[in-house]
Amino acid sequence: MKKEYLNNIPVERFAQIIPSRRRIIENASAEFPKYEYNANILAKKLHPKVQHVVVSDVKKLNGAKLFTLRADPEKGTDALAYFQAGQYISLELAIGDSLLTRPYSLCSSPLQALKGEYQIIVKTMKNGFASEYINTHFNIGTKIDISAPSGFFCYEPLRDTKKVIGIAGGSGIAPFLSFAKAIAEGTEDFELTLLYGSRTEEEILFKEELEELQNRCGRINVIHVLSDEEKEGYRHGFISAELISEVSDRNDSVFVCGSQGMYDYIRKETEKLGLPRKQIRFDAYGEYRLTDRDAEYLKDHQAKVYELTVITNDGITHKVPVRCDEPILVALERAGIKAPSRCRSGECGWCRSRLVSGEVYTPELTERRRQYDKVVGYIHPCCSFACSDCKIMINCEGME
Ligand code: FES
Repeated sequence: MKKEYLNNIPVERFAQIIPSRRRIIENASAEFPKYEYNANILAKKLHPKVQHVVVSDVKKLNGAKLFTLRADPEKGTDALAYFQAGQYISLELAIGDSLLTRPYSLCSSPLQALKGEYQIIVKTMKNGFASEYINTHFNIGTKIDISAPSGFFCYEPLRDTKKVIGIAGGSGIAPFLSFAKAIAEGTEDFELTLLYGSRTEEEILFKEELEELQNRCGRINVIHVLSDEEKEGYRHGFISAELISEVSDRNDSVFVCGSQGMYDYIRKETEKLGLPRKQIRFDAYGEYRLTDRDAEYLKDHQAKVYELTVITNDGITHKVPVRCDEPILVALERAGIKAPSRCRSGECGWCRSRLVSGEVYTPELTERRRQYDKVVGYIHPCCSFACSDCKIMINCEGME
């Protein structure tokens, strides 16, 4: 009789396999297997829903504090998720009745994370509700829940040039400090020319550390720019188009981290140079503040307060007031609703919620929703402002 083959295997072999497989299945335990796949274990280590940390050191800087966070040993782990230089963590805070989050760029090196340690800089901002709270209440031993490292302000070898121009303002130095450490340690492979703007020499953060990194590694070049002081050894003025063109050519990738005001300024300067937008990366700066750019929205809604109906995924309905000059997320947090959020600037999608009724305004600079989401009515409450009474459904899944 002619033998039949399937993928070069005689078909009769399969007939022998079937009874033996049946026997294995019949004798198998009905209990769910206790092992976990290595890929799952690794994914959980890299992207934990929450990480429990404790403040292990606090250093006073000029107008800011440097916090060292270690994995909380009482939670049974001494490990923290690895990250890529440029990423941030989001802190979960309970201040009075408000439950909120704040993103902070990691300024430590990725290798430090493998030793169970992160570092962040918290600058006390004028009227900074959370920053003031952190800088006065966080001491050695304070326990905090934080997110996994997140964000896209990272060097991508396939996209970015070998030489990168960094532009930092004030505490916007944090991700660049992490980049510089990673370059010096060999976990990032690019050349960094950093234009660091401060008002005075005294206000420069991590001056000695940046000098030490520059001396240790020939691929790091730091240029300090002082706006309010003329001093030998420093550039004077602002980080202008002329200064950028002095240190770069039109092909270099440009990374920018600072305040919303600084981004507006740098956008104009880089436009003067004709730098293609795709070469410039702005770090997520947290909460969006309405400016003249949003004049049309403000003209119709300024000083108005609308009613926000919120249905959470546990089926509870809340009614909260929402002011027109604040993102919807802030109204949720003030009402003590634990709404999901991380970047607070429209980038991560973590706060994505369903707009059931009503209208919202999303500033153009924070509009990063997928086309599908816009069509079917999903919003990012972190950068959506109410234009009427609204009803939204929020998904608190993923929050502890
Ligand atoms: S918190 Fe990231 S998009 Fe809203």
